[in-house]
Amino acid sequence: MRKKIVAGNWKMNKTLQEGIALASELKEILAAETPKCDVIIGTPFIHLATLAELTKDSVIAVSAENCADKASGAYTGEVSAAMVKSTGAEYVILGHSERREYYHETPEILKEKVDLALENGLKVIFCIGESLAQREQGEQEAVCKAELAGSVFHLTPEQWKNIVIAYEPIWAIGTGKTATAEQAEEIHAYIRKCVAEVYGEQAAEDTSILYGGSCKASNAPELFAKPDIDGGLIGGASLKAPDFKGIIDAWK
Ligand code: 13P
Repeated sequence: MRKKIVAGNWKMNKTLQEGIALASELKEILAAETPKCDVIIGTPFIHLATLAELTKDSVIAVSAENCADKASGAYTGEVSAAMVKSTGAEYVILGHSERREYYHETPEILKEKVDLALENGLKVIFCIGESLAQREQGEQEAVCKAELAGSVFHLTPEQWKNIVIAYEPIWAIGTGKTATAEQAEEIHAYIRKCVAEVYGEQAAEDTSILYGGSCKASNAPELFAKPDIDGGLIGGASLKAPDFKGIIDAWK
C-alpha cells in the first residue's frame, strides 16, 4: 500500500524563530490526534537541524527544499545533500517549478541533484507539471513524461522506492486556481502509467503521487478522494498550523 502524504513547502518564508513557533504548534496539534497520513514539512535550510530535533518524537518528518548538484567543494553558498542529511532531515524537494524557472535548473542539473540526494540517504519529492500555455496546447502529459524521463527514470528499481512524485501544474501554484479533482486525477493516472512502463505495475501502485497548487482544506477532500491522488504538496496553506491541519484532516 502506498503512503498517503501531506507535505508542506514553506518556500522562502519564516525566520528561524517563526519556523520554530509554527513547527511547535503543528507538533502539538498533531500529538493530540494522530493523523491518518504521513506529514512532512519542507523548510529553508536554516530551519532543518532545529526542526529535525524538535520533531524527533513526533509524526512530522522534515524536508529540505533544495540541495546542490555537486557533492562538495568550492561552491560558495551551496548546501550539499550530505549536509542536508546531517541535519536529520529525511527528504528533499527537487524539481519545483520555481527552481526550474527562477534558478534555471535543467533536467540534467536535477538529475545530478536526485542522484546525490539518494546516494546520501535522502528521499526525494520530485516535482513536475506544465505551464498554462502548455496545458492550453494539450501538452501536459508530454511535459510530465519528459520531466520524469529527464531526471528520475534512470534510477534503479531499488532507488525508485525513495521517490515521491508531486504533480504541480504551474498555473495553479499560488494563484488560487486549483486543478479540478477530475483534471488532477486524469494526469495522476497518466503519471502512474508512465511509472508502470519503466518500473512495472507493482512499483507504480506503490508510488505516492501528490497534488500541489492552491490546495487547501476546502478542496483537499475532493482531490484526495481520487484513486491516484495520494496527498498534497502545500505552499501557502502550510504556513499556518490550523490551515495545514485542515488539509491533513482530509484523510480522516
Ligand atoms: P500553493 O499551495 O501556495 O499554491 O503552492 C503550491 C506549491 O508550489 C507547493 O510546492
